[in-house]
Amino acid sequence: MTHSRFSLHFSHLPLVQKTLYTCVLCVLGVGYLFAMIYVFASHHGRDGDDALSVQDIIIAYSGSSSGTKLESALRGPMSGMLAADENIRIIDWVGQGANKEAFESEIKTIFENRCITCHNSRNPHLPSLESYDEVKLVIEEDHGMNLFTLVRVSHIHLFGLTFIFFLMGVIFLHTYLRKEWLKIVIVATPFVAIILDIASWYMTKVYEPFAWVVIGSGALMGLSFAVQFFLSIYQMWFYKLPQEVEQTFYCSVIEKSP
Ligand code: HEC
Repeated sequence: MTHSRFSLHFSHLPLVQKTLYTCVLCVLGVGYLFAMIYVFASHHGRDGDDALSVQDIIIAYSGSSSGTKLESALRGPMSGMLAADENIRIIDWVGQGANKEAFESEIKTIFENRCITCHNSRNPHLPSLESYDEVKLVIEEDHGMNLFTLVRVSHIHLFGLTFIFFLMGVIFLHTYLRKEWLKIVIVATPFVAIILDIASWYMTKVYEPFAWVVIGSGALMGLSFAVQFFLSIYQMWFYKLPQEVEQTFYCSVIEKSP
């Protein structure tokens, strides 16, 4: 049994199909940008330095021995929720032993004004910051994202990303690359990267250098997304199939048709 090395090229697809593909790609591209912004906003700054670094990834997944969950949140994703001087007052209060009197007299009002609209006992997804005892829980030693959160995010990522890269792949099939193996690699890469990425979140908890695998697989996924995106758009609208390929393609189709 033989099979064709080429999928139908974009240039043989109806205009409406190319329009649909282009719309899907553009919205996915914007989605990808927002995902990048979110990753940056939720991870950067945890280590005290504003840029996104391996150390931030390590703190996010496996925790930090030098600071508490409250401190890494206040340096990182929560830093925009309050004024800088309030932030410093809370950090100082934690540093000085987080005693209850100081909490009641000056720290509590900051939490009330800035935090408890989201962090209250009615919201089961976030730690409540309404009372001293509850705040105490986020100033114990930081062990990073808990397993339940990781499991929740894992299943969302596995389903969501599979869906996205399946769509991308189906569109990308219509490009022409001289080397079939290269196309196979490009299509399969993001799926391998998803598995590597998610596995290394858990591994980072056990062995910190796996944070590099988190970053590497994220980069691989982004690269594959970019390659599929730009090659698809380019070949769909600006590219003319080489003459000899055009002929080979048609000959093989004609040979196979009954
Ligand atoms: C607009 C809603 C909102 C406000 C206001 C807010 N937070 Fe958060 N907070 C969140 C969300 C959503 C998360 C989880 C997302 C994340 O980890 O990036 C979070 C996460 C946290 C965490 C980490 C929780 C964990 O289990 O890892 C801490 C600590 C925290 N916030 C403290 C604060 C403090 C202190 C304030 C007030 C200065 C504050 N937050 C204000 C929405 C809010």
